[in-house]
Amino acid sequence: MPTNHSHTNPNDDRLPVVVLISGSGSNLQALIDTQSDTGIRIAAVISNKKGVPGLKRALQAGIPAEVLDHKNFDSREQFDQAMIKLIDSYNPKLVVLAGFMRILTPEFTRHYAQHLLNIHPSLLPKYKGLHTHKRALEAGDSEHGVTVHFVTSELDGGPPVIQARVPVHSDDTEQVLQKRVLEQEHLIYPVAVGWFASGRLRLEGNQALLDGAPLPAQGFQHTAVSTFDPPLE
Ligand code: GAR
Repeated sequence: MPTNHSHTNPNDDRLPVVVLISGSGSNLQALIDTQSDTGIRIAAVISNKKGVPGLKRALQAGIPAEVLDHKNFDSREQFDQAMIKLIDSYNPKLVVLAGFMRILTPEFTRHYAQHLLNIHPSLLPKYKGLHTHKRALEAGDSEHGVTVHFVTSELDGGPPVIQARVPVHSDDTEQVLQKRVLEQEHLIYPVAVGWFASGRLRLEGNQALLDGAPLPAQGFQHTAVSTFDPPLE
């Protein structure tokens, strides 16, 4: 039996959330910094890679940080089963993927159905999978962006919740474009998580609803305010 880590305080109405990471954790940081606005309590951060900066961010914020290394498991199914046990020992009401770079088994996505969010650095349904910034540049796109979506068994295919768009400039490098998108990620992920925590956002069948009304097919369109790009003359 997994240890039960939850210290549920009946007077604490914040939504318990577990965040899964694989790397830098800048989105995790955005969620940590906005916890009091969004009404969540990050109960634990779990990484499939040891030593990544995101784990330090969690510890600095006093949040339990765990490592479950996928390399120690023979199969994806076994890893996901161990992950489910570990996550559930914290009794979360929402699981947030924040740069978690593992493909999930249907068992995992079914287990957390309606309670699993991901952020993907493209304007879904464009550019599912990896190297999204490079692909947008190579395609000569004039805009690019980021999508928060509910996770289903289809890779990067669950119903979008919110999107932010950024311009692509002719002299952009992959790195510059990634920074411009990341700035928007840090704004829209807390918005989506806050909606979920307050009960405004839910998934019904394959439709994301905000305040009971269906969201557009590409999600709510967030108006990007950028501090990264110089202001237009
Ligand atoms: C973010 O850009 C996130 O959108 C992306 O990984 C980065 C993680 O950054 N996620 C994916 O590509 C998932 N398919 P972070 O660790 O600094 O939050």
